[in-house]
Amino acid sequence: MNPKTKGRDLGGWATGFCLVAGVGILVGLGPVSEGSGLAEPLQASTATSPDGATPQAAFDYYVQNIEPMFLRPRGYPGSTDGNPACVMCHVWQTSVRFSLEEPTDTPDGGAWSEEQSRRNYEMVTQLVNASDPESSRLLTKPLATAAGGARHTGGNHWDSTEDPEYQVILDWVRALPAAEFTPAEPEVAVDFEYYRSCVHPNVLSVGNYGQLACTSCHAGGSAGFAPRSADGAGLTVAQARQGFEALQRLIVPGDPVGSRFLRKPLHPDGGGAYAHNGVRRWQNRSDPEWQTLAAWIRGEVTGSECSPIY
Ligand code: HEC
Ligand code: HEC
Repeated sequence: MNPKTKGRDLGGWATGFCLVAGVGILVGLGPVSEGSGLAEPLQASTATSPDGATPQAAFDYYVQNIEPMFLRPRGYPGSTDGNPACVMCHVWQTSVRFSLEEPTDTPDGGAWSEEQSRRNYEMVTQLVNASDPESSRLLTKPLATAAGGARHTGGNHWDSTEDPEYQVILDWVRALPAAEFTPAEPEVAVDFEYYRSCVHPNVLSVGNYGQLACTSCHAGGSAGFAPRSADGAGLTVAQARQGFEALQRLIVPGDPVGSRFLRKPLHPDGGGAYAHNGVRRWQNRSDPEWQTLAAWIRGEVTGSECSPIY
């Protein structure tokens, strides 16, 4: 558990928010999906041209209709069924891009100041793609994989794209100006800091199940992605850079399955390479360590905080 959560009553945030679809406030944005139970949009005229949303309207819509979803409790009171609220994980999982500000406790479940909401908005809008709204990570992560969603450690929150929450977010993304809210750099950046602080010390330098560590065989040469530190005190930045450089040839940013680094030590029965003169560190891709490294290669995990995310 993240040390920052110690002694905090996280549950305090997560009470008392009613279903957002029941709140039904819409602020002058484009078309609203039929049957979502939401109020009519104020500007029906934008229906054919949703790109007309002003930046302020897009922000207001976000604050009133989307941000409360992140606080809303998703289990059933007094039971352990269901999912925790998004904030239960996404305030503390700071190594994940979707990292919300810490809300202030209020009797009705928690609140963000306007300034905090602006920061949340900055971050959330990096998880949308107005040129291809359905591909937005904000939509694919909480959606059940059976309905076309992406794998999400935080669980399935929407069984289908018919879910009112999904529809509210989709309407918002569709109304955002594509020129401004299309990821500028679709290319995935695999984070060096995470390599240095987490991947090297926790994965490459430690053998599992009595196996040799990657550093035993991959400290140098063309596959020298796991340099050894001289005194066991960790790598210097220069050494780490060198190892990280050597790794580039063996990874495909954004594509863990296509990355030799994650295929070679994976058991062939679990989708790995047929031969590796070294170890088989992972039996299959469900291995939490494999999953964490995969998230890193997809560019989802960054920084120096190594708390396992799977
Ligand atoms: C139990 C903890 C947990 C809960 C609850 C949770 N998540 Fe997550 N979420 C994670 C973790 C861990 C990751 C990173 C690994 C992954 O992608 O599965 C993640 C990843 C994401 C991402 C991708 C971020 C990126 O950088 O690309 C989005 C978007 C997201 N979650 C949205 C949500 C939303 C919206 C909710 C609430 C409806 C939610 N999550 C609830 C744990 C959680
Ligand atoms: C006992 C020594 C040994 C260990 C330990 C070992 N490897 Fe290897 N590895 C090799 C050898 C030898 C090769 C080259 C022959 C081959 O491809 O099997 C290799 C090849 C590779 C390649 C392909 C390199 C290329 O140039 O295409 C990758 C990726 C790789 N190993 C990853 C790992 C990872 C990750 C670990 C730690 C989990 C690891 N290996 C542990 C010996 C080892």
